[in-house]
Amino acid sequence: MSVSINVPTQITLGDRQLHRIGFGSMRITGAGVWGQPEDPAHCLELLRRLPELGINFIDTADSYGPNVSEDLIAEALYPYKGLTIATKAGLTRQGPNVWTAVGRPEYLRQSLLMSLRRLKVEQIDLWQLHRIDPKVPRDEQFQVVAEFQKEGLIKHIGLSEVKVEDIKEAQKYFNVDTVQNQFNLINRQYEQELDYCTENDIIFIPWYPLAKNALAGKLDILGQIAQKYEATPNQIAIAWLLKRSPIILPIPGTSKVQHFEENMQAINIKLTNEDFELLANTFKTVNS
Ligand SMILES: NC(=O)c1ccc[n+]([C@@H]2O[C@H](COP(=O)([O-])OP(=O)(O)OC[C@H]3O[C@@H](n4cnc5c(N)ncnc54)[C@H](OP(=O)(O)O)[C@@H]3O)[C@@H](O)[C@H]2O)c1
Repeated sequence: MSVSINVPTQITLGDRQLHRIGFGSMRITGAGVWGQPEDPAHCLELLRRLPELGINFIDTADSYGPNVSEDLIAEALYPYKGLTIATKAGLTRQGPNVWTAVGRPEYLRQSLLMSLRRLKVEQIDLWQLHRIDPKVPRDEQFQVVAEFQKEGLIKHIGLSEVKVEDIKEAQKYFNVDTVQNQFNLINRQYEQELDYCTENDIIFIPWYPLAKNALAGKLDILGQIAQKYEATPNQIAIAWLLKRSPIILPIPGTSKVQHFEENMQAINIKLTNEDFELLANTFKTVNS
C-alpha cells in the first residue's frame, strides 16, 4: 500500500511562521531581469494578491531590474503588515542576463543602505549575500555582514550558491538562517548542502524550483504522476520539494497572478512515498 504523509505547511524563521511556499520576485522585471516588466500594473496586482492568498515570504534582490523588483514590492505592499521581505546584494548588473559578483565590504554596505531606502524600512527581515565574490577574501565579506546585523540593519542572514564549507566558515561570524541554492527535480547538485541545512535547522530556499517551466510537458513520468494527482507538472515539482525536507521553502517565480495561484496549490498535494521515490530516482539519472 502506498503511504502519503501530510507535509508541514509552515516553516519558522526566528519569531515568524512562514507559509511553506514563498514568492520569487525576479520575474516582475523586464527581459533578462533588466528594466521594467512588460505589464507593471499586473505585477503590482500579483504582489497585492500574495497576502490575500496567505503568502507571507517574498524573495527579491537589489539586482533584479536592478532596483525594479524592490521598488514594485514597496509600491504594492509597504508597510508589509505580517510579511517577511528577503532581499540580497553582491551581484552587479551590466545589462540583460549579465551578472557580476562584487563583494567588497563598502559596496555591500552601499547596496544594503540602498535596499533599506527602496523598501522604506529601517531593518531588512532577511538579507542574503547573493554570491561570495571570489576576488575578495570571503571572511571580509562575512565580517561586514556580521557588522550589518550588529548595527541592527538586518535581522536574519542568508547565503546563496554556497557549499557546506562556506556555510561552516560563515557560521564563525553569524548565525546562518537561510541558504538559497539552485535546486529542483532535475538539478540536485546541492543535495549535500540541503542535508547539512536539514541537520542544522537552516531554511533551504531552492531557487529555480520549476527549472523555469522546463519540467512542464517534457518528462513522461512527471506528466503521468501529474495526471494521477490531477495536478500540473509544476505543482508536482513543488510538491516534491516540499516533501524532500521540512526545511525547504520553495519560491516559484512568475509575473502572472494565474500562474502563482496555480503553483501554490502544490501545498495541497499529498505525494505518496512511492511517487516521491519514483520521481527522485527517475530524475537522479537525468541529473547525473
Ligand atoms: N539566489 C540566486 O542566485 C537566484 C537565482 C535565480 C532566481 N532566484 C530566485 O528564485 C526565484 C525562482 O526562480 P526563477 O524565477 O528563476 O525560476 P522558476 O521559479 O523555476 O521559474 C520561473 C519561470 O517559470 C514560468 N512559470 C512559473 N509558473 C508557471 C506556470 N504555472 N505555468 C507556466 N509557466 C510558469 C515563469 O514565467 P511567467 O512569468 O510567464 O509565469 C518564469 O519564467 C526567482 O524569482 C528569484 O526570486 C535566486
